Amino acid sequence: MILALAAALAVPYAGTAACGACHGEIAKSQGGTAHASALKAGADGRWAFGSGVQAITYVSQVDEDSYLEHGLSWYRKADRLHFTPGHEDAKGVRYRTFAADSAIMRCFGCHSTGTVRLAEGRKLQPAEPGVRCEACHGAGGEHAKKPEVGNIRHPGKLDAAAVNNLCGECHRMPPAQGVATNWENPWNTRHQPVYLSQAACFLKSGGQLSCLSCHRAHSDEPMNVEAKCAECHAKPRHVTAVGKQRCVECHMPKVEASEWLAFTNHWIGVYELPLTPRNRLRPRAERTRGGLTPGLRKQVGEVFERGGGFRAIGSVGFFGDR
Ligand code: HEC
Ligand code: HEC
Ligand code: HEC
Ligand code: HEC
Ligand code: HEC
Ligand code: HEC
Ligand code: HEC
Repeated sequence: MILALAAALAVPYAGTAACGACHGEIAKSQGGTAHASALKAGADGRWAFGSGVQAITYVSQVDEDSYLEHGLSWYRKADRLHFTPGHEDAKGVRYRTFAADSAIMRCFGCHSTGTVRLAEGRKLQPAEPGVRCEACHGAGGEHAKKPEVGNIRHPGKLDAAAVNNLCGECHRMPPAQGVATNWENPWNTRHQPVYLSQAACFLKSGGQLSCLSCHRAHSDEPMNVEAKCAECHAKPRHVTAVGKQRCVECHMPKVEASEWLAFTNHWIGVYELPLTPRNRLRPRAERTRGGLTPGLRKQVGEVFERGGGFRAIGSVGFFGDR
């Protein structure tokens, strides 16, 4: 692990300030996103994970060998502290900094940009907190010195599946072939690429639908998703009265993973109405197709997650690393 860290240090990251010198507009806009504030250093040595759009979880170093994920997180929906997902009390969960599954390193990995260094006292020190330029564009030191089209990744030139994978590096990969995903676990809907990869819209549109069809790269300002639907579905055939509801209310329903956190089901499809909590988990045709027995389901858990690191929690069976 220490060797891997040392090797990674050789990768030439430039940092957002350097990119911003030439791409000022983008840097300004991107600086205002939830991505940019996905991690912040607190004055008291605590790290705040999560921008606060939905929640913030605190993490702090306990000693040279361990970090603590605090047992209480702040939730916007409630505007107060409540148990962190996966926790059953306020004590918090202690992680060994260099455990085999490197759970705590992985928190920093997805919530920061560039190389996570080891500072004095075996403190983890991310190069740049938050999801910034080079998290998506790759190390850009060469490009910043000598800007050329060919020496930096432009995700706009990738096909839909490759964009799904790029975003999936953090939002989680589509399941590998032959790997089971537990669709009954509402927590899994937070892994948007996994769900989008199952949708007929994604599979049958010849690579025209990607995360970028509905999300801006450098801003959280919502796009007109209904207009997107209309590009491919000018006149959907409805028997059901749809009224003035938005397409996504029925075809991409919100799923409550807990009392305080909700995600959008990215498996665009026809869901059984009325939209009870269970009916929101999978399109109706899938729900009646059988699938896993409840017992097996518990064992399978989220096996699509690469690298392991699962924690068991009460009623939902398994809960991936956030
Ligand atoms: C010294 C100015 C400068 C800096 C610093 C710089 N860029 Fe660029 N960048 C450019 C210019 C100029 C172009 C357009 C090149 C062209 O069209 O030939 C460009 C193009 C790009 C492109 C599009 C590439 C393509 O395939 O069309 C991306 C993406 C990009 N830059 C990202 C970054 C990132 C990320 C950083 C920081 C790591 C960065 N740039 C730093 C000047 C800069
Ligand atoms: C380096 C990891 C990483 C990558 C790569 C990444 N994301 Fe994210 N993304 C995050 C994290 C962490 C958050 C949570 C931010 C927060 O705390 O609210 C997030 C949040 C989001 C949100 C929610 C924003 C909001 O307003 O709440 C969207 C949408 C999103 N990402 C889309 C994308 C897309 C599209 C891509 C690919 C082009 C992508 N992300 C690539 C880590 C990543
Ligand atoms: C594989 C990448 C990855 C790892 C590892 C990871 N996160 Fe995240 N995290 C994300 C993404 C992506 C989001 C955005 C989820 C969303 O809103 O859809 C997120 C969101 C969050 C949020 C905002 C609230 C929420 O649940 O959406 C908090 C808080 C958070 N993560 C804390 C942590 C902590 C603490 C750890 C380590 C124990 C961790 N994360 C590990 C990728 C990761
Ligand atoms: C969440 C991933 C993500 C982050 C973070 C990100 N970008 Fe991008 N960037 C993209 C994607 C995706 C595209 C392609 C957009 C498209 O073609 O629709 C892109 C395109 C670009 C382009 C070329 C096209 C254009 O809009 O001019 C430049 C330059 C660029 N990004 C610079 C930056 C800089 C500078 C930062 C940091 C301030 C940054 N990006 C942060 C994903 C990201
Ligand atoms: C890039 C084109 C494209 C976009 C954008 C798109 N779809 Fe689709 N969608 C398709 C294709 C192709 C199919 C498969 C049609 C078939 O099987 O004949 C499909 C199928 C569907 C189905 C039937 C589901 C099933 O499993 O058979 C629904 C419902 C649907 N789309 C709704 C939507 C909604 C709502 C949106 C906007 C949020 C949307 N689509 C955006 C291309 C698209
Ligand atoms: C057909 C349109 C569409 C596509 C394609 C799409 N999204 Fe979304 N996404 C949405 C909508 C609609 C929301 C809900 C926005 C809201 O509530 O304001 C959303 C919300 C999100 C959120 C916020 C958390 C949540 O689940 O509500 C994240 C993160 C996200 N999308 C990531 C992605 C990623 C990564 C991809 C590519 C794998 C992607 N999205 C593809 C429409 C789309
Ligand atoms: C009130 C919930 C609801 C809303 C809102 C809604 N739909 Fe549907 N949609 C359904 C149901 C249910 C079906 C299955 C057929 C039926 O019962 O009408 C369906 C079927 C579909 C299909 C598959 C049938 C076909 O034409 O191939 C598509 C595509 C579709 N809807 C797209 C859309 C789009 C685009 C919008 C927004 C303009 C939208 N829907 C709004 C509930 C809804």
